[in-house]
Amino acid sequence: MDQDFLPLKGTDHIEFYVGNAKQSAHFYQHAFGFQMMAYSGPETGTKSKASYVLQQGKICLVLTSSLFPDTEISRHVMAHGDGVKVLALWVDDAERSYMTTVDRGAVSVMAPQTYQDEFGEVVISAIHTYGDTIHKFVERSGYSGPFLPGYQSREDSFTVVPVGLKYVDHCVGNVILGEMDQWVAFYEKVMGFNLLVTFDDQDISTEYSALMSKVVSNGNGYIKFPINEPAEGKKKSQIEEYIEFYQGPGVQHIALATDDILFTVAELRNRGVEFLRVPEVYYEDLTDRVGAIDEAIESLKQLNILVDRDEEGYLLQIFTKPVQDRPTVFYEIIQRKGAKSFGKGNFKALFEAIEREQALRGNL
Ligand code: FE2
Repeated sequence: MDQDFLPLKGTDHIEFYVGNAKQSAHFYQHAFGFQMMAYSGPETGTKSKASYVLQQGKICLVLTSSLFPDTEISRHVMAHGDGVKVLALWVDDAERSYMTTVDRGAVSVMAPQTYQDEFGEVVISAIHTYGDTIHKFVERSGYSGPFLPGYQSREDSFTVVPVGLKYVDHCVGNVILGEMDQWVAFYEKVMGFNLLVTFDDQDISTEYSALMSKVVSNGNGYIKFPINEPAEGKKKSQIEEYIEFYQGPGVQHIALATDDILFTVAELRNRGVEFLRVPEVYYEDLTDRVGAIDEAIESLKQLNILVDRDEEGYLLQIFTKPVQDRPTVFYEIIQRKGAKSFGKGNFKALFEAIEREQALRGNL
């Protein structure tokens, strides 16, 4: 096997550019159970923006807002609404990650820079990926602070109870028609990822709309990026709707893993997180489709959790509605019980659920 030229240790953090980071932070704390870890803003010497760092399990989200109108952050939010700007990858060597990927054709965002404070130093570099989204390489072995230099540790100002979210399972990008293969090639050639699986419009089509998807994964499998593009259908693909409202390619959904999806989803629902709904008929032949599972069908039905099986085991999953007014970014909650796949058996039921939402928005 070829040597992995871009070793990645995992997802370092995911940074959103949002209109009001203070209020977004409260949503993620209250509704999703993320705990406040660090803050950067005017009080810490950062004059033009505010960032809140939230954590649950190994998942680290950063919510950033500009304090002024004419900034890159403000322009991003103006164009895209609240959305993911940075998929940051944890590396041992941010300089080498940058040199290697730029050498192989990546477009540079930021050459390696060293940031220091009393807790040590962090090296960060960055390259472009689809749309206005970027990958940062974060080398933090020489750092013991709460997040990054420039951030101060901060605790929740009210009781935040985690819901059992553990790690980022995968992050999905939507790209425009005809560009999926080019982005798959980017991840293969520039970042050394492997094509894991392909879904064509036969796999992913309903009566109305269709999409195609390819999943790429890095050498150790810690990072998985499915890439979607719209396909021709009778009506507008959900990917087209996304691209219209995001004004271009971007992150469609982030899948967060739990060890106890019944608990996690019950908590999220209690706290007001909205999920897509599949009809009750989905559960009628569930046992025939997936065989014996540990969970009671009645409990899954009550929470509207979906199940799919592959050769290695099964998985349980559910999708939220978009978490902002634009029909763009949403979350998947997933529990894997052996299965390494993505729930192909649920695509039809899910996409029909998405189409019902699209129709309500007048976008189908
Ligand atoms: Fe997913």
